[in-house]
Amino acid sequence: MEPQPFGDRHTVQKLETVERYLQAYVTALKFAPFELLYIDACAGSGSSVPKSALELAHSTQSSLEGFSVPVADTDSIIVGSAIRALGVKPAFHRYLLNDTKQSNVDALRNSIQREHAHIENRVEITKLDANQMLCEICRSYNWRETRAVVFLDPFGLQIKYETLEMLGKTRAVDLWYLVPVFAMYRQVSGDGEINLDGGPRVDAALGTRAWRDVAVVEEQSVDLFSQSQLRSKRAVDIAWFEKVAKERIGEAFQGQVLDETLPLGRNGMQEFSLMFAWANTSEKARLAAKLASAVLK
Ligand SMILES: C[S@@+](CC[C@H](N)C(=O)[O-])C[C@H]1O[C@@H](n2cnc3c(N)ncnc32)[C@H](O)[C@@H]1O
Repeated sequence: MEPQPFGDRHTVQKLETVERYLQAYVTALKFAPFELLYIDACAGSGSSVPKSALELAHSTQSSLEGFSVPVADTDSIIVGSAIRALGVKPAFHRYLLNDTKQSNVDALRNSIQREHAHIENRVEITKLDANQMLCEICRSYNWRETRAVVFLDPFGLQIKYETLEMLGKTRAVDLWYLVPVFAMYRQVSGDGEINLDGGPRVDAALGTRAWRDVAVVEEQSVDLFSQSQLRSKRAVDIAWFEKVAKERIGEAFQGQVLDETLPLGRNGMQEFSLMFAWANTSEKARLAAKLASAVLK
């Protein structure tokens, strides 16, 4: 295993939630006449390890002679989303895994060859931008015969809204999306400046610039010399970005986004919000929402 240096209690919570859903999903659709796909567009290397555990390993290693590579305690290794998905029973018919980093793709492939060789022929691994990967998948599958769970687990604002729209149009995808709400919020400074690089990335993630009109307000204030002046300031918080992101996902998924979310982040701060949406508008597909709601409890 070549764990990536990230992860914490919230990482485990996120992964366990999605894993519980995947297990419920394959069980519920066991006899359904569909090809079932698991799609992980930011799959990582197959595992991660909290930076704190790596730092501890570094400090232990420096006090020992003869070791050149710090190795984190195996207890601290967090098994990643793709490897968890490969462990559900019955297995999905196909696993479409992706990451932009070559070293992650290689590590993931090695890990699957070692631990899941019996279903290795069901796995495709690509090294693409997540949006491109998903766009190609949306175009190439016959969605009348296929059903999929898509997991979007980016570090930041990588996922474009048009990708969500494309997933919604399949009418066949269930989506778990770790929405980077703090990354959206921090593009607006306290005095109402929208970051020149980050602002357009929020536009792309939300598929609109309308958030800008609410996020910043102009306020009339009076200075020391009784002169009135206009001052801009940030008028929204992280919870507001969560609400807007949920509404936008709902718009891409025919209004079918779960109201419950899982707020996640380190040190008591909300950095992400795990959200669920389902694209199939049939009455039967409401089961997806029930299962998702159950695993979020
Ligand atoms: C939070 S990690 C994913 C962790 C993984 N789900 C797991 O459980 O171990 C985010 C991953 O997204 C990858 N990534 C970053 N930008 C990307 C992009 N534009 N398209 C696809 N993957 C990307 C990173 O290399 C990183 O491995």
